[in-house]
Amino acid sequence: MIESSDFRNTRIPLNNGAGHIPALGFGTLIPDPAVTITATRDALEAGFRHFDCAERYRNEREVGEALQAGVAAGGIAREYIFVTTKLWNSNHRPERVKPAFEASLERLRLSYLDLYLIHTPFAFQPGNEQDPRDKDGNVIYDRGVSLLDTWKAMEDLVDGGKCRAIGLSDISLDQLLPIYESARIKPAVVQVEAHPYLPETELLEFCKEKDIVLLAFAPLGHGMRPGLIEDPVISAIAARVGKTPAQVLLAWAVQRGTALLTTPKSAARARENFNISALPEDTFDEINRIQIRQRLNEVVKTGSPGFIPQGR
Ligand SMILES: NC(=O)c1ccc[n+]([C@@H]2O[C@H](COP(=O)([O-])OP(=O)(O)OC[C@H]3O[C@@H](n4cnc5c(N)ncnc54)[C@H](OP(=O)(O)O)[C@@H]3O)[C@@H](O)[C@H]2O)c1
Repeated sequence: MIESSDFRNTRIPLNNGAGHIPALGFGTLIPDPAVTITATRDALEAGFRHFDCAERYRNEREVGEALQAGVAAGGIAREYIFVTTKLWNSNHRPERVKPAFEASLERLRLSYLDLYLIHTPFAFQPGNEQDPRDKDGNVIYDRGVSLLDTWKAMEDLVDGGKCRAIGLSDISLDQLLPIYESARIKPAVVQVEAHPYLPETELLEFCKEKDIVLLAFAPLGHGMRPGLIEDPVISAIAARVGKTPAQVLLAWAVQRGTALLTTPKSAARARENFNISALPEDTFDEINRIQIRQRLNEVVKTGSPGFIPQGR
């Protein structure tokens, strides 16, 4: 059940009793280090309290710096922010999980993480090369480790006390089921692409049944144009309810019971994306009836990310 005294501050309980996740999350997949710092500060100032990071984004240091400064300036206690980061594909071997986790903590300047996710179900050749390729340019996968082996090492992190919750990302229901069945500590969150063109209804139903939070990325369709932001149904609703298309899309995501990640890069957009309110029920249903189906991010097919800076 969602807790929501004020729609913008909706918080969803985690299934392991480790507190709540704020539904409105700020994603830090930002190629420019200076913009990472200003956008993270702006998001905190606008009211975002949930921050999504990843070792693969290669900017955990900048996020950590911005969070530390912003939290101090705003007098915000650590327990009022929720920070997630993700284990990258080249660290799936169980013996690599804890060192990767500790390195992320150090870069983020944190003593514990609220949530640690396996970034994708694809294991790459273990090592410090995040994008290992053979001489023909093909990704080198690691067949010597299973997702369950990695999950068990994630469970050990929870036992260690510095990781409050664990989950998976870029995973299908078929891949999630065996992990869910075998897990000693059940996944608390599943992060996947989800928006009106890819509602992931079956996965969402399963997650609701098991009290797993579905955390939607690309709620604005990665901002692509043409795309969701310019969809005629969304634009018409936005004009009718006096909100922007982005606010309508984000409200829809919260209203259907998911948490979400959005990445505004200016202070004005951070305020816009935080300032959402519930949609009238008929409007919500109208969005549910959109028939277009489109996946934007191919990461689920290969484990190789789209939209990520290379070589920093
Ligand atoms: N697990 C995964 O594999 C995975 C994959 C992708 C993303 N993610 C996470 O999800 C986060 C969210 O990224 P996303 O691309 O999915 O977010 P998104 O919010 O769907 O799209 C971001 C894009 O929307 C634009 N935008 C933001 N606010 C807007 C507004 N109010 N009006 C119009 N356009 C607006 C931004 O443009 P400007 O740049 O011009 O501001 C940017 O191009 C990432 O930062 C990352 O944390 C995870």
